[in-house]
Amino acid sequence: MFDGTFTADPQQIYDRVRAHGPAGPVELAPGVDATLVVEHETALRVLQNPSLFARDSRRWKALNEGRVPLDSPILAMMAYRPNCLFTDGAVHLRLRQAVTATFDRLNMTRLRRDVEPIADFLIDQFSERGRADLINDYAKMLPLLLFNKLFGCPADIGDSLTGSLGALFDGIDVQRANAELTASLMRLISIKRRQPADDVTSWLIQHPAGLTDEELKDQLVMLMGAGFEPQRNLIGHALHLLLSKEGSGGSGMLIEEAIDHVLWHNPPIANYAAHFPLRDVDLGGVIAEANSPVVISFAGANSDPALKEARESHNKGAHLAWGAGPHSCPAKDPALVIAITAIERILNALPDLALTVPDEQLQWRPGPFQHALAALPVRFSPTPATRMVAALQTAAPLPPAEQPGAPAAAEPERQGQPAPKRGFWSTLVDLFRV
Ligand code: HEM
Repeated sequence: MFDGTFTADPQQIYDRVRAHGPAGPVELAPGVDATLVVEHETALRVLQNPSLFARDSRRWKALNEGRVPLDSPILAMMAYRPNCLFTDGAVHLRLRQAVTATFDRLNMTRLRRDVEPIADFLIDQFSERGRADLINDYAKMLPLLLFNKLFGCPADIGDSLTGSLGALFDGIDVQRANAELTASLMRLISIKRRQPADDVTSWLIQHPAGLTDEELKDQLVMLMGAGFEPQRNLIGHALHLLLSKEGSGGSGMLIEEAIDHVLWHNPPIANYAAHFPLRDVDLGGVIAEANSPVVISFAGANSDPALKEARESHNKGAHLAWGAGPHSCPAKDPALVIAITAIERILNALPDLALTVPDEQLQWRPGPFQHALAALPVRFSPTPATRMVAALQTAAPLPPAEQPGAPAAAEPERQGQPAPKRGFWSTLVDLFRV
């Protein structure tokens, strides 16, 4: 699942695995073996059975025996971290409750209002050019900037987070980026402990689970990691569909329909959820060995022939794009609001958007966990870059506590230091203040 054959046509690999039965052996990366589940019913059996299938990857036998190369790119996604994704039982429940209670406090109307100026700001960056890459100029940047807003980041911390997360996801100077990410988050946590506000970081701190700074940092990293990649893919792939012949170019598909189509046919997380069976388990004739990774193919399960009818009617309930069981996505509703708002905003702003390359020439990013576009080149009639300022002038002013970057006074440690290099987030924070 790491070479060009998989990147070009993942479905062909799922079909080949299906020929073995509900699951079959795959190589996720050189030297990294796993069992991939491609049948819907078996996927549910694994996802919903935490007493037999653990998520704690410290059980991983091949890794513990030194049979997984320590420089394998796969480890960034599969090695244990003390967060919701890799914990089980009571430890998972405590972390998960803090995360779900935090998401419950998000107001969907306010979330839309947070997405809109960020979308406008990004569109302004390229609207005068008449050309853009909707993945790298829009779908990738929007969640990064939005998370800064939701997490209540002051200007300099937001710039640093955007830079380090971007570098981490692109695999550039990973060690430095990781250190910078940790330092920025620790500073953010310290600011929010002293001066709580109406944001995700403060809500996590306030949760009765009483997370330590270290635990808070690990959950924030996970939220960014778990949120960024699928959000980018969902926005990018739905835009691709809407602009292609299959979408509004042809049949006039609605945004929600395009999103449902993507969730069924190209789920933003294609394969993930590594489970470690507590004992050898027979998965319909294929033995999943104790403490060896069983990976769920959300894309494979969605394309299971048994689901043909649900798939064709785009039944929202049956696909596995949001996972299932105790680790299913806790951010489904906000993720949908973010995607719909981001897509609406750009289609309204640039009504003659058109793809500039045929589908056969689109590039896909390599890797076993997603089937994701590397770029989505488009053209449109150039328009002046005035959206962001106009939108903020017509919007009701935000109360001071809600303004991004408000806690300047809460950052005494930066006083007297030279002003850091300005990035996207600090520019945006200034615009929010117009
Ligand atoms: C945009 C579309 C999104 C999709 C399709 C999606 C999909 C998923 C899936 C399939 C899982 C299960 C993974 C597993 O079992 O290993 C998951 C888990 C998770 N997602 Fe999402 N996600 C999306 C957006 C987000 C966003 C925006 C956030 C947060 C900002 C988020 C936070 C999480 C978290 C924290 C978990 C782990 C929950 C746990 O282990 O208890 N997701 N997501």
